[in-house]
Amino acid sequence: MDTFVIEGGRRLEGKLRINGSKNAALPLMCVPLLTDEPVTLRDVPNLADIRSLRNLLAELGCVQTGEQQGMMRLHTQDPTKSHARYEIVRTMRASISTLGPMVAKRGYAKVSMPGGCAIGDRPVDLHLRGLAALGAEITLDGGDIIAKAPRKGLQGATIFLGGQFGSTVLGTANVLCAATLAKGTTVIESAACEPEIVDLANLLIKMGARITGHGSPRLIVEGVEKLSGVDYTVMADRIEAGTFMLAAAITNGDITLENCPIDAMLVVKDKLNAMGIQLAVTGSDLLRATVRVTSARTLKPVEFTTQPHPGFPTDLQAQMMATLTLADGNSVITERIFPERFMHVAELSRMGARLMRQGPTVIVSGVRKLVGAPVMASDLRASAGLVLAGMAAEGTTTLNRVYHLDRGYERMEDRLTSLGANIRRVDDKDLPSHLTGGAD
Ligand code: EPU
Repeated sequence: MDTFVIEGGRRLEGKLRINGSKNAALPLMCVPLLTDEPVTLRDVPNLADIRSLRNLLAELGCVQTGEQQGMMRLHTQDPTKSHARYEIVRTMRASISTLGPMVAKRGYAKVSMPGGCAIGDRPVDLHLRGLAALGAEITLDGGDIIAKAPRKGLQGATIFLGGQFGSTVLGTANVLCAATLAKGTTVIESAACEPEIVDLANLLIKMGARITGHGSPRLIVEGVEKLSGVDYTVMADRIEAGTFMLAAAITNGDITLENCPIDAMLVVKDKLNAMGIQLAVTGSDLLRATVRVTSARTLKPVEFTTQPHPGFPTDLQAQMMATLTLADGNSVITERIFPERFMHVAELSRMGARLMRQGPTVIVSGVRKLVGAPVMASDLRASAGLVLAGMAAEGTTTLNRVYHLDRGYERMEDRLTSLGANIRRVDDKDLPSHLTGGAD
């Protein structure tokens, strides 16, 4: 298994282009299941999750017919294969995004029920409730969700899609995709407002779907007979951008990000400014702006709560926590999307952070320094937080199970090294045992 060896204490400087968004690209890649024509997606990041979904789509008869760097052309050629197997779904939860498109277009879908993961239970009840409201008959069989459309097809409906923790991003994507081909009007209330849903709606509209209200909690969809092929560029990754901004801040750096979706990150900008991190924005397209990130030597503490967009994104909570461990004072972090998403707390503590967790809240008492240690990656964003901490720590940090990080960041070590960090990827078999962290 790959491990990062991080030598701390280097200041980041230089320029970096933000990649296409993982969380936008995954539901976008399921859209070709809704049409007989080819769909070309550009700026698709080269990530483990993207490759897993591409393999799943091939099993579902939707094959990749063209590929250049960052470009993916997907075309449904055999609509009779509609079983998303557990072996793939369990490695990548976004596989659930194939359910809505398949039941809408093919009238039938069988998708393995995703299990829990390191960040919590992650149920899919809202996805199923939304599709059932459109007329799909949903049953469970041997761990598989089976969705069947009535003979006359899905029917538009008014659906309330909010749950205990607010809206659902991939649930909204599933119901939105299905509604594009349903007969009549669908109203999705408490829809996710995330920029990735806006990106999905923009793609569908370009294919002929009739959608209004995207970016607001009420989505209105007028069903159409069919959708056509399209050529579309995926939005830039706001979580990757936020991670690099915090990497600059924690190393007291000065970096410039190109292709930065700052308009989708206003809450992040607000909190970073409050911490003493400056973001100088140039460019007329604020979803692909140039942003220079500079940071005060001493960071100020802040309080924040993760919430659905436009609130603070849960996918930056761990990276913020890592950065705030070195702020001058006490910060308060409350997690309202995934209340158990705190795998990084124990690992950051091993590096000298002072953290006190009570339920969904962590008090971060800033310390003067972190000290390098062997730490263990658990989920994707927790791992990113530990990389940031390692870059700021005194001495050497080894982060094992880097495959978690590879799911969402393309060659993160190369990109950070290009900015001046000292990070090596090694096989953990080549490391002395005291540096390899915990066991499985
Ligand atoms: N929820 C339900 N029922 C459902 C669906 C969700 O109760 O049917 C709950 C969840 O348990 C959670 C909340 O609703 O408490 C929000 O979950 P959501 O459905 O919005 O999450 P998701 O769509 O499965 C996407 C991202 C996650 C990101 C969340 C929240 C993708 C592929 N994944 O997941 O990204 O954390 O939205 O913004 O888009 C990551 O990139 O590291 C990541 C985990």
